[in-house]
Amino acid sequence: MLNFNFYNPTHIVFGKDRLSEIITLIPEKSKVLITYGGGSIKKFGTLDKVLNALKGFKVFEFGGIEANPQLNTCLKAVDIIKENNIDFILAVGGGSVIDATKYISIAAKYKGNDYTSLIKNGFSPAPVTDAVAFGTILTLPATGSEMNAFSVISHESGKHGFFSPLIYPKFSFLDPTLTFTLPKTQVANGIVDTYIHVLEQYLTYPIDARFQDRTAEGILQTLIEIGIKTIENPEDYNYRANFMWCATMALNGLIGAGVPQDWSTHMIGHEITAKFNIDHAKTLAIVLPSLLRERKGKKEGKLLQYANRVWNITEGSNEEIIEAAIVKTEVFFNSLGIATKISDYPIKKEELKDIIHQLESHGMTALSETGDLTLDITERILENAY
Ligand code: NZQ
Ligand code: ZN
Repeated sequence: MLNFNFYNPTHIVFGKDRLSEIITLIPEKSKVLITYGGGSIKKFGTLDKVLNALKGFKVFEFGGIEANPQLNTCLKAVDIIKENNIDFILAVGGGSVIDATKYISIAAKYKGNDYTSLIKNGFSPAPVTDAVAFGTILTLPATGSEMNAFSVISHESGKHGFFSPLIYPKFSFLDPTLTFTLPKTQVANGIVDTYIHVLEQYLTYPIDARFQDRTAEGILQTLIEIGIKTIENPEDYNYRANFMWCATMALNGLIGAGVPQDWSTHMIGHEITAKFNIDHAKTLAIVLPSLLRERKGKKEGKLLQYANRVWNITEGSNEEIIEAAIVKTEVFFNSLGIATKISDYPIKKEELKDIIHQLESHGMTALSETGDLTLDITERILENAY
């Protein structure tokens, strides 16, 4: 096992009908800015519940954060914070609202003028020393942003990731009932995003990290067990509760501690979203199978373990076992309504080159757990994914 630090200060409040407890977690007399997205929280009554729970606090609102949040949208919220001396932000939404809030929280304390300097190409630490405190109320299980210190912000032609220990949420409310209103396609996105977060921390090379491996396999098996059921039974509390906890635990540092990680699928997927505006999880599902076929030699040990322990495939040559596991993965995504080929989207084969150019301009030229996934290999992965 590799050396690691594990630090995660986010207080999770899990379960239904607990929003009234929020007043115990926000410092008294705070001026609170509620951040949210395109309006689902208004439509489905969540905002009213939150406002009710915040009686006694001075509350401001900032809505309109788009999926794949834009830097310029975030800056409008920064103005509100500065004008009104806001001291606490409450993000109510999915990964986009939470990621935007993370950026807003550091940008509001930033003393300079170059707001783009806070986000760089690749996933780098944000050069900041202070942030406005914030908490979250999660409405879409998927990204793990509610319990991690990452954020992805869109600006110009790219999606830019950054992290900082200053952007762990102080608390996150995980109420499965708030997810009952999700459209089926967003639930499917959340399951696939979670599944691939696990695989990118698991499908590398063996390093004898048994707890991390078994926990990763447990999350994968749970998602396979409940995936289609939670889509088809949106108000089944237990399916949603299990899905929600899997999504949070998949990307809060637990299963990634002490193991090699391969975020290539995410880095390539982000470029596809930036160029073609396809949902985050849907881009991952079209890249991952082809990437695994391309890298099956390097990932052989873990792919065999995955085939064996997650899909119970034991018969055949190593090559056949690995291919069968990749096919099972594709069939699983397809069963949730998520396509696994680039040609399932309105993207021309000639446009694949644009993805390669974007990766190059964002410095994504040596991806993977071994840093040797170069652009020519990525090009082959995309061509085979078509
Ligand atoms: O905007 P509203 O009207 O609220 O609608 C949203 C949005 O249209 C809707 N929605 C959310 N909760 C709902 C609901 N609709 C009905 N009922 C509810 N309870 O769902 C739509 C999608 O929301 P979004 O927040 O964009 O989805 P997701 O949570 O998948 O977040 C995607 C973003 O997270 C980033 C992605 O790159 C993308 O920008 N990621 C962040 C990560 C992190 N911080 O660690 C890691 C991930 O890998 C990912 O890159
Ligand atoms: Zn993701």
